[in-house]
Amino acid sequence: MQSTIRKAVIPAAGVGTRFLPAVKAIPKELLPIVDKPTIQYIVEEAVASGIEQVILITSRGKGAIEDHFDISFELEEILKWQKKEDLLRLVQEVSSMVRMTAIRQKEPKGLGHAVLCAREAVGDEPFAVMLGDDIVDSDPPCLAQMVEVFRQIDGGVIALQRVPESKTHLYGIISGEKVGERTYRITGLVEKPTPEQAPSSLAVIGRYLLPPEIFPILEHTLPGKGGEIQLTDGLQALANSMPLYGYEFTGDRYDAGDKVGYLEANIAFALKRPQMVERLRAFMEKIIRA
Ligand code: UTP
Repeated sequence: MQSTIRKAVIPAAGVGTRFLPAVKAIPKELLPIVDKPTIQYIVEEAVASGIEQVILITSRGKGAIEDHFDISFELEEILKWQKKEDLLRLVQEVSSMVRMTAIRQKEPKGLGHAVLCAREAVGDEPFAVMLGDDIVDSDPPCLAQMVEVFRQIDGGVIALQRVPESKTHLYGIISGEKVGERTYRITGLVEKPTPEQAPSSLAVIGRYLLPPEIFPILEHTLPGKGGEIQLTDGLQALANSMPLYGYEFTGDRYDAGDKVGYLEANIAFALKRPQMVERLRAFMEKIIRA
């Protein structure tokens, strides 16, 4: 299998019901973590991991995501005129970050279907999938850690995180055999099992390195849980026919598609900003004491 990963698919076509009414007119992926849209953290991770092209899966009403990564002539002119050089550079960095292709998923038929929409754009090479609302704060970046594993093994790699038993019903959970310090050979996957049904406490999170063989599998994957074409079901079929590995990454992961996860990400990233940390800490101490 080719050992370089050049393309990353970012599915961002979901409805985002957990964030209504905020996401009626604004894509969930553009909600800011401090002052940067959620999806920009993910694109930055992709670029820092060697990705050359991002394939964005969008839907009706989500055009603002593409605009965010495009040149904004008017804004640049205003910033030039106002002599705000730092802000001008910041804005220009976003539009020159990466080559981006957008593909519409016409109906929200599930994550597996969203990935299948990228088939032609990806072609016949291994690729990354990074969920548009899953942020991982780590050094080296989570995707770069996975690419390193991918170079050493022959098969797909999916990111894993240990979760408490009480939370297995929120994730895809794997069964597998430990083959390295943080690496597992996957034998099975179950979507959102109850704690009793869960084969382990290792949850699949939003980073995947997949071979192109996943596409014909997804094409024939029937709707599963929630009536959606589940990527987890496709991965189970892939694991039956090719080696598939799980990798327990190092770093902090935030589910920005969940309200509490979103707030946690905002607090964690704000506390990293020297100009904010003192005021924020003082405020948090005050409200916790109250
Ligand atoms: P979620 O499970 O978070 O679904 O999708 P959602 O619609 O975005 O949000 P809720 O659950 O209604 O609040 C996980 C990722 O898969 C994408 C989403 O955009 C998100 O990045 N997705 C999901 C698609 O691109 N298409 C789909 O049909 C479903």
